[in-house]
Amino acid sequence: MIVTTTTQNWDEQDVQSVVFIYENVNQLKSYVANSPAQDLLAYLMKSKQIDDTKKSVVSAPLLVNKTWKELVFVGVETPVHERTHKESAARLARHLQKKCITSTVIHLTHSVSARKQAQQIVDCMEGMVLGSYQYQRYKSKPKKTDYLTHVTLFATSSKTIQAALNQGLQQAQAQNIARDLANTPANFLTPKDVVGFVKQHFAQRKQVDVCVYNQAALKKMKMGALLAVAQGSVEEPFLLEITLNASKKPPVILVGKGVTFDTGGISIKPSRSMADMKGDMGGAAAVIGALSALDQLNVKQHVKVLVPLVENMPSANAYKPGDVIVARNGTTIEVINTDAEGRLILADALCWATTFKPKAIIDIATLTGACSVALGDVATAVMGSDRKLLNSCLATQKTSGERLWELPIYDDYKTYLASDVADIKNCAENRLAGTGSAAYFLQQFVGKCPWLHLDIASTMNYSSAKGCRAKGMDGSGVRTLIQVVQAL
Ligand code: BES
Ligand code: ZN
Ligand code: ZN
Repeated sequence: MIVTTTTQNWDEQDVQSVVFIYENVNQLKSYVANSPAQDLLAYLMKSKQIDDTKKSVVSAPLLVNKTWKELVFVGVETPVHERTHKESAARLARHLQKKCITSTVIHLTHSVSARKQAQQIVDCMEGMVLGSYQYQRYKSKPKKTDYLTHVTLFATSSKTIQAALNQGLQQAQAQNIARDLANTPANFLTPKDVVGFVKQHFAQRKQVDVCVYNQAALKKMKMGALLAVAQGSVEEPFLLEITLNASKKPPVILVGKGVTFDTGGISIKPSRSMADMKGDMGGAAAVIGALSALDQLNVKQHVKVLVPLVENMPSANAYKPGDVIVARNGTTIEVINTDAEGRLILADALCWATTFKPKAIIDIATLTGACSVALGDVATAVMGSDRKLLNSCLATQKTSGERLWELPIYDDYKTYLASDVADIKNCAENRLAGTGSAAYFLQQFVGKCPWLHLDIASTMNYSSAKGCRAKGMDGSGVRTLIQVVQAL
């Protein structure tokens, strides 16, 4: 998709479609006054297809200078908030896709401050790219969806506008990378396949280095927790270390849970929805997507991405409930449930992260089913040890549109994880505070580093597309991560 800006009148442009995005009808009316769209809008309003209460997508063809153009009116839902503009753009993208439109000019019809206009351009690009996503890689006859190749925004071409355009595009494209990864069936995306993808994806990036630790290396690194989870699978585990060398300062480290399939292991999961567990590397997908965008956005930061990669399987070799395993930092862990595997692989990766004396560690994981019980499918849970980092993360919601909600990590959770035989249990035997107690477990491995933990189990996937959300795996967390790093 090629995106440009213009200040030329739409009726003089060679485009198939003309879009007006509006917050209220009066503004829209004055915007199209004395243009060839004036009568059409008057008709659509008279026939009650457009009014201030109906904020859907309405479209009709219009003959202008002897060529037909599809005029599209997109109402932004009110009250306007941080997600409404993005959602309208996503609806627009689906509409244009249905109509097989190849080129369009888009008008944001409301008069706002320069800062707001820039944000609306971010929203527009993001919504368009996220809304047109469909996963069809394993369809033998995929539907053509990429009709729209030329998008022109009606705006002056300032540096701020170009930056906004780029920010929106990069964020959404990065999220689509994460969606593709998480949607890929686990038989096509083993730990080895993730390594292969990452090597290829970053091969031409001058500022990015990829380092891969295999099973032998992980043994030397004493990553006993990661290795224990992996031992039930025939797939070799890996730790990926991807570095963006854009500054010499201490790094910001992003750690993503990379369980390419989570059967639960010996504590096997019920078969209902088990297929969703191909998305249990959603955290890994998010950090990989985010790093790709941070590089493309020329962020002047030293960023390191760590991805522990395993498949969690039951087998004769699998780790078992009751086993005691030893993490990299020497902490002994009693395994209560082999399905609480994410925190085990993260524990070793977090220990590794601390060795770089980082400015901050941010981990992201499809960690606990309890997260959906607490928040539904509408928000990601955020936890951490550093108030400043927590606040700056929570503040990104306003522009990223990804909802976050903070949960506590009370010291009292210590008793939930107290073990008779080892230093700590991998999970509680009660069902209390599943999300917070998992975070408590992780906190034992970050030392004194400022640390943030995002549990995306709640926002990992959806059963239908809505607004910017895609059907299937959603690549949740990518936009948040990009913006948290940009703000550091
Ligand atoms: N990957 C799951 C968490 C999950 C569940 C993510 C559903 C997305 C949707 C994780 O490894 C897990 O199984 N956690 C257990 C922890 C429990 C055994 C303490 C859970 O949430 O049930
Ligand atoms: Zn699990
Ligand atoms: Zn899991």
